[in-house]
Amino acid sequence: MTPIKRMLVTGGCGFIGSNFVRYWLKQHPESQVVVYDKLTYAGRKENLHDLWENDNLSLVVGDIGDLTLVRRTCEEREIDLIVNFAAETHVDQSILGPLVFTDTNVRGTHVLLEVARALGIRLHHISTDEVYGHIPDEHQSVETDELAPRSPYAASKAAADQLVQAYSITYGLPVTITRGANNVGPYQYPEKAVPLFSTNAILGEPLPVYGDGRQMRDYAHVYDHCTGIEAALLRGEIGQVYNVGTGREMTNLEMVDIVLETLGKDHSLVRHVTDRPGHDRRYSMNVDKLRALGWEPKYDPRQAVAEAARWYAENSWWWEPIRSGEFREYYERQYAKRLIGTAPR
Ligand code: NAD
Ligand code: TYD
Repeated sequence: MTPIKRMLVTGGCGFIGSNFVRYWLKQHPESQVVVYDKLTYAGRKENLHDLWENDNLSLVVGDIGDLTLVRRTCEEREIDLIVNFAAETHVDQSILGPLVFTDTNVRGTHVLLEVARALGIRLHHISTDEVYGHIPDEHQSVETDELAPRSPYAASKAAADQLVQAYSITYGLPVTITRGANNVGPYQYPEKAVPLFSTNAILGEPLPVYGDGRQMRDYAHVYDHCTGIEAALLRGEIGQVYNVGTGREMTNLEMVDIVLETLGKDHSLVRHVTDRPGHDRRYSMNVDKLRALGWEPKYDPRQAVAEAARWYAENSWWWEPIRSGEFREYYERQYAKRLIGTAPR
């Protein structure tokens, strides 16, 4: 495989992208990273606050759907690998306003593939376990399973996966895909469950648990996702898909217990609210294929959730401006009616 010297990281100012950039530059200080990011509400320059002075890191502000700018950036910076994290990522936002999910996740990925094809660049695509849909109790998704997405977000990610695979088959484009489980850790926008529940608990606000809270997720530490992507980049087979998670799930109620226990907060903050439409009951992935590349997760899901909750307790500088600013409007819209009349169980 050709060595990776100059990497375009799309969505590098988001949660996982920024953790990945930090990890990559530490492990591979000789490589150049160009972050290409539209800086949506979820894309924040401060997620890489400690790294902007690094000569090996630069930022291009732009949309992955802008073919001219993506192509010019790749040509001028002599990019040899695109890692595509850029996406609209929240299921609840995809229920409120789905079209932008198709624009970015489907068309945007397609534009990246077109540039990669024109310039002969390898592309690694970041996907999700949500493309497999709801998984019955006795099964764990393997990479060859049929895709059965059920939310607008998951459907847009599945469409992108299929475009990536089609470019591999039709044009022989060198591609790889990783499908990550629910990630937790530093710099996750507080619309997602673990940072929302952690910051609500710290603020003494109710924790809105959808439905009965018995839905199951594999809460994996973002660090393990980064090492998993690195393994796929350095040792993965071109054309292949790799699941990345811990392979172990817990219920949302168990996750809430860990958050509350870690932060020393009382269970009376928990509120059961109206469920998310089409809420997937369980995600679960088999991660043996990635393990076969010599990768192992460092954190179990309980440690991952506890570490994440602790990070929010110690880093209010990061989330307080978000929570007191633009996020409030979304929070009102999503939760105000749901929370009316609820009481601790
Ligand atoms: P995020 O929402 O925190 O960040 C997304 C980033 O993409 C932001 O920096 C945003 O500004 C940027 N972006 C959005 N639209 C763009 C566009 N049109 N052009 C350029 N940049 C754009 O997301 P995240 O949680 O870090 O997820 C990153 C990737 O990992 C996504 O592809 C997501 O589907 C996937 N994923 C996420 C999880 C998870 O638990 N968060 C799990 C598995 C896979
Ligand atoms: P989330 O972090 O949105 O990730 P995803 O929907 O991609 O799995 O949600 C994780 C789980 O937590 C999911 O089962 C939905 C649930 N959830 C709540 O119960 N309440 C909330 O306010 C949120 C945002 C999520």
